[in-house]
Amino acid sequence: MTPDEGNAPDPSRIELSREEMQRFGYRVIDILVEHFSSIADGPAGAKAAPAEIRPRLAGPPSDSPTDPHQLLARLERDVFSNILHVDHPRFFAFVPGPNNFVSAMADALASGFNVFNGTWLGGSGAAALELATIDWFRDFCGFPESAGGLFVSGGSMANLTALYAARRARPGSELPGARIYFSDQTHSSVERALRVIGFAPEQCRKLPSNDRFELPLDALSAAIREDRAAGFQPFCVVANAGTTSTGAVDPLAEIADLCDEERLWLHADGAYGAATMICERGREKLRGLERVDSLSLDPHKWLFQSFECGCVLLRDAALLKSAFQIMPDYLRDVHRGTEETNFADYGVQLTRGFRALKVWLSVNTFGMAAFREAVTRGFELAEFAEKQLRTRRSCEILSPAQMGVVCFRFGQDEQLQTELVDLMLQDGYAFLTSTKLKGVTALRFCTINPRTTEAEIVETINRLERFAASSRARVAGSRTGHL
Ligand SMILES: Cc1ncc(COP(=O)(O)O)c(C=O)c1O
Repeated sequence: MTPDEGNAPDPSRIELSREEMQRFGYRVIDILVEHFSSIADGPAGAKAAPAEIRPRLAGPPSDSPTDPHQLLARLERDVFSNILHVDHPRFFAFVPGPNNFVSAMADALASGFNVFNGTWLGGSGAAALELATIDWFRDFCGFPESAGGLFVSGGSMANLTALYAARRARPGSELPGARIYFSDQTHSSVERALRVIGFAPEQCRKLPSNDRFELPLDALSAAIREDRAAGFQPFCVVANAGTTSTGAVDPLAEIADLCDEERLWLHADGAYGAATMICERGREKLRGLERVDSLSLDPHKWLFQSFECGCVLLRDAALLKSAFQIMPDYLRDVHRGTEETNFADYGVQLTRGFRALKVWLSVNTFGMAAFREAVTRGFELAEFAEKQLRTRRSCEILSPAQMGVVCFRFGQDEQLQTELVDLMLQDGYAFLTSTKLKGVTALRFCTINPRTTEAEIVETINRLERFAASSRARVAGSRTGHL
């Protein structure tokens, strides 16, 4: 027996003894508790070079058993230390994932019971709980009783599911002349979804956003008019309920009026922003969201859930069923009860897990008031960051704080902004990423982690300012050196 096999499980049973399960499980919990309670003391993340990390993890699987505690130690050393900590309070990049411990434990339960939530027969209790949770979302988004939906992997799958249902619901949308409208700030997952469901690039009209990065109503209605005059069939508008780059919100109520007049399907991508409907700030900003035909909403973003947790809602849930339901012979036993909801009939997946559990368990544990407050804090932290940035002489605001995002740059040197991203990652204290706004490179703070402190924002800005100054000094020095 090799030393590795000392505490290894019996190879013939793919099973641990009760004591082994407890020892292993408690160790996993200890690692997670340590992670959640001391994350702020460590770096915001690290990226390993492929040449360094790939050989450490490559190789065939072990043919003989290995002590899982040794494997955990290896994972801690090689894997979990080489990821971006999207849940870190100083992680301001992309869209952070500030999940919560109860959500993570819910995933362990869902996985441990291996809940099958594709059919009512497979998981009636889980399906009932998912329906109840979807009802919460339906209610806080202001949708009618007819609305419903399901949990999916994330915003990309939510957009795909909604747009496919839209296509199936609207006659004419299958024609090559069908046209879809959205702004140049729309998330790439919308374009990818349209590609997957069979729309050609010329059917997708990506309209330039205005100086607030919103879809301009006049350009939208002009494009629809032009297309009708040219014999095309306008079919759908995709509006943003919080863009990824700047948090911009398209004029939802006005777009809803236009879609009513033009009889167009209105889908809102609220993957980032729609969860803010739980608080006053979000409801103000997203006025009109309750009128859309379909909506993407990601609890794994601004509702503090572990990945993967997205949600798609349709104003008329029956349209999801007519788009996706197929009744094969081998599922004949699941389609007998008309009162029963088979989630497989409402989306792409048959075997699907129990994503609703983490939402249900964490929301009930902490209470909705805590979630409202945590979401509101995201708005306030971005506003605080903007105020701080405005006090720095070399900093320019490129998009003011809205929906938890503020964009800015230090000086006008394009390369410097990218360099600052790299320098921050090397430094490790905090991490943020860049985007392009009207061709200009901008740094972004996305401040949806309620555990971020004001002092951490100030210190992050201090470091950015310091790195920018020393980079400029270095460049100036090398120029002088060349003279
Ligand atoms: C506005 C928006 N839509 C869609 C998505 C895609 O969501 P996911 O990455 O969960 O698939 C994102 C992700 O950041 C987003 O910000």
